[in-house]
Amino acid sequence: MRFDGKCVVVAGGGSGIGRAAAGLLALRGARVAVVDQNGERAEETAAAIRNEDGVAAAYTADISKFAEIDAAVSSEAERSGGIDALIVSAGIQRYGNALDTTEEEWDRVLDVNLKGAWLAARAALPYLIVRQGAIVNVSSVQGMATQKNVLAYTVSKHGMLGLTRSMAVDFAPNGVRVNAVCPGTVDTPMLEWAAGLAPDPAAVYEACVAMHPLGRIARPEEIAHVILFLAHSSSSFVTGSAWTVDGGLLTLLGGSPKG
Ligand SMILES: NC(=O)c1ccc[n+]([C@@H]2O[C@H](COP(=O)([O-])OP(=O)(O)OC[C@H]3O[C@@H](n4cnc5c(N)ncnc54)[C@H](O)[C@@H]3O)[C@@H](O)[C@H]2O)c1
Repeated sequence: MRFDGKCVVVAGGGSGIGRAAAGLLALRGARVAVVDQNGERAEETAAAIRNEDGVAAAYTADISKFAEIDAAVSSEAERSGGIDALIVSAGIQRYGNALDTTEEEWDRVLDVNLKGAWLAARAALPYLIVRQGAIVNVSSVQGMATQKNVLAYTVSKHGMLGLTRSMAVDFAPNGVRVNAVCPGTVDTPMLEWAAGLAPDPAAVYEACVAMHPLGRIARPEEIAHVILFLAHSSSSFVTGSAWTVDGGLLTLLGGSPKG
């Protein structure tokens, strides 16, 4: 899967899964626009790509603010002549149930994870229509099921699948494909942050490993490979789909009579 001559915007490309996707895209010949709220991290990703003789530009933008994400996307389109794919990996995690989640937490999680994905698509679609491009949204296994105590996050990731399906249907006549990936646990700074909230972070990692039938958590690159497939013309008849990349996590029924 080569991306020579293609321009791909990676929102949330400053870290984790987005950074891995940006690096892999550049290795396969794409020009990559690394967009992140954390401008320093975006620049780090872009610099790492340029060090390997790839082509990348960094943009600072909060995906939940249309003016910011639109400015980043349109500057990139102007510089590179168009956009072939948008990957939305920007996201945040917060813990809480329907009683103890604050309105501020709910609003921020939904603003970034769900509204942000819509706003990024809204900014990129005019360019994607011209190139018959693709959108890949990074949802989660929590877009299909839920753990305990992650109300806002689960709602946002379920919503992201609705967003993916709705846009897939609306823009199919324009030749734009829209798909989602639903990762299980991935070894990224987000996981490190989540584990750091527990009294014994190592135990959190061990529990995550034990949950996955493959007996480990994912490397960010393992999610990035599926993202690249969905962004590439190799998946030209795939749209509106949600790909689990979860080491079998959702396949295993929780609880078994024999323990
Ligand atoms: N790590 C996991 O186990 C896991 C599992 C399933 C799904 N996901 C999802 O994958 C995506 C990437 O997660 P990750 O683990 O790579 O996390 P990460 O924290 O390593 O990277 C997320 C990136 O998004 C950026 N970001 C956050 N808010 C933003 C905003 N408002 N505007 C622009 N950028 C913003 C951050 O600065 C960061 O660079 C997220 O949507 C996450 O929910 C992660």
